[in-house]
Amino acid sequence: MSEIRVSQSLEDGESIALKEDGQHVLLCKIAGQYHAVSDICSHARVLLSKGRLRGTTITCPLHGARFDVTTGKCLGGPAFLDIASYTVREDGNELIIATDG
Ligand code: FES
Repeated sequence: MSEIRVSQSLEDGESIALKEDGQHVLLCKIAGQYHAVSDICSHARVLLSKGRLRGTTITCPLHGARFDVTTGKCLGGPAFLDIASYTVREDGNELIIATDG
């Protein structure tokens, strides 16, 4: 089982980029809930965390594809593939992101 542990809390609407074992993960807090998705756009190898998060939508900084960070679903092209979405759970002061699903 693969997981990333984060001992940092976020404010609502805030997001951070994480990298562990070569894996890029975007962690966001929206309306009190944590969400984690792949930080790599499904169109090309670009970090989505360099883009803009508005509500639950992150926009890729390179060509403008949009993804829902609560599900990983692709909302608009030029990308058409969804990105991975990961379960986040809170354990005391830590957030645990299950990066294998
Ligand atoms: S690299 Fe993200 S939309 Fe092209």
